Amino acid sequence: ERPRVWVSQPLFADVLARLGEHFEVEATREVTRHEPAAVNAILRRMDGALVTLNDPIGAEQIAGAQRLRAIANVGVGYNNLDIAALSAAGILASNTPDVLTETTADFGFALMMAAARRMSEAERWLRDGQWQRWSFDSLLGADVHGATLAILGMGRIGQAIARRATGFGMRTLYHNRSRLPAAVEAECKAQYVGFDELLARADHLVLVLPYSPQSHHLIDAAALAKLRPHATLTNIARGGIVDEDALCDALEHDRLGAAGLDVYEGEPRLNPRLLQQRRVVLTPHIASGSLATRRAMVALAVDNLIAALGFGPRAGDPPSPINGGIRDRGPGT
Ligand code: GLV
Ligand code: GLV
Repeated sequence: ERPRVWVSQPLFADVLARLGEHFEVEATREVTRHEPAAVNAILRRMDGALVTLNDPIGAEQIAGAQRLRAIANVGVGYNNLDIAALSAAGILASNTPDVLTETTADFGFALMMAAARRMSEAERWLRDGQWQRWSFDSLLGADVHGATLAILGMGRIGQAIARRATGFGMRTLYHNRSRLPAAVEAECKAQYVGFDELLARADHLVLVLPYSPQSHHLIDAAALAKLRPHATLTNIARGGIVDEDALCDALEHDRLGAAGLDVYEGEPRLNPRLLQQRRVVLTPHIASGSLATRRAMVALAVDNLIAALGFGPRAGDPPSPINGGIRDRGPGT
């Protein structure tokens, strides 16, 4: 009997087809917000699953899933996975780093520029037929070239944003849990500073750090108060890093220049106050969303799942494991 795998959401069917060479595949046909009990009922029958960031997988979902040995997440961030629970159950988790780095950095840079130059507000204004009211000081924004870029979270994506900034003559500061090797700092032309100094000196602050209990509401009222009133805030990481009510307060009291948000706490629900703000650019979690990159992410997740379940050229050695150190408990044990 061939192993069974579940695909939690509709993904590129032609990319998923390779799963069918090794497994019985049960693919979800429509975008679905799966209930935890429904996921549990499915996973109890499965050897592996390919899931997205909209699918929380924790103790509740994997309870009694005796055959389950691999979860492949389509996405670099994996805060939807309870890694401790998966490791304790001997389930190998994987994600999709690297393939999305440059595409996500492109978007982060674009969102920062769009916020600085008020592009969404300008388009709403134009579509509303307000052009007759144009004056020389309409919709004035902040410069990006020559400004100070502040990157919070200097992983692969943060570094790729820093490299882009050199072409704009920006000064790049960064803060990260650990300082980068000097050679990487030199290549990115980025200077390490403390958290408070990063905020105090930023013209444009970009968030690219993983979400965790430590980064929950890291950008709260106190942190926002350290930013200068003309500064912009761009978030392409996870919504829960920013206290959205504090962000709205800062925007409403002109204590912040503008914001560009691709991620939200509780998405796809939106804080209604955000929708009321003028100087924000809001996008629906699409930073990795070029066609080529989204396909590459699914292809990598497929490679991870095939290898984690012991098939293909990399059997037992998936390309991007998260908890690679766990001992495989073997099928059906
Ligand atoms: C998207 O947010 C990802 O983590 O890949
Ligand atoms: C992940 O956090 C990355 O920057 O690749």
